[in-house]
Amino acid sequence: METQVDEIAAGVYRLSTFTDAVAGGFTYNQFLVAGDDALLFHTGPRQMFPLVSAALAKVIPLERLRWVSFGHWEADESGALNDWLEAAPGAEVAVGVLGTLLSGADQASRPPRPPLADGEVLDLGGKRVHWIDTPHVPHGWDAGLLFEETTATLLCGDIGAHAGAVPALTEGDVVGPAATAEDMFGGTCLTAMTAPTVRRLAGLAPRTLGIMHGASFAGDGAAVLHALADDYDRRFQASIQAATR
Ligand SMILES: [Fe+2]
Ligand SMILES: [Fe+2]
Repeated sequence: METQVDEIAAGVYRLSTFTDAVAGGFTYNQFLVAGDDALLFHTGPRQMFPLVSAALAKVIPLERLRWVSFGHWEADESGALNDWLEAAPGAEVAVGVLGTLLSGADQASRPPRPPLADGEVLDLGGKRVHWIDTPHVPHGWDAGLLFEETTATLLCGDIGAHAGAVPALTEGDVVGPAATAEDMFGGTCLTAMTAPTVRRLAGLAPRTLGIMHGASFAGDGAAVLHALADDYDRRFQASIQAATR
């Protein structure tokens, strides 16, 4: 295995590790936002830390990492957290209220920074990210995402996840592959709030989607998010019908 590095928007790097051990081919992606204060979104699984940290070191020295953030607590999102905190002594965890209070205070080897409120900005110097609470979307009570404002890049975590040996960045269809992955994994928590939450993200009009598994998308991110929301809506309605049959 090898971790590939690609700049998907100015100063936003995708670190991607492909494995054929999952779904016949699957990527684990982390995103480095290289402001003066560098931020990593997703830690990667603990077992991939040697690969992912070596990849990040090709872009910036590990010690420059200031913030480690992720969408929710789960092995691929947060598993290598303490390895990063050890490798980057100046780094702190920056996640939302529930992620900080429910898990961060216990799981992180150093106390997290005070929780990021919904909409709160972290000014990285040359890059600005803001935190968005998305409870249970795509899964996890503590779920949230980051939007990088200077490049209009939505780091959308597992939303839009798809399998396959994919390019780093595509202008092609990611909605069809995401629906196929949803059929396969059922990874999304379908509630009445799933589609409205994804539509709210479309309101950011992202030009790049940093998808955690699969290709990143360049183009009309709002259209992709609306199409994903339509698919989640259809699945939610079908689940109600199936449950009440
Ligand atoms: Fe996840
Ligand atoms: Fe994930």
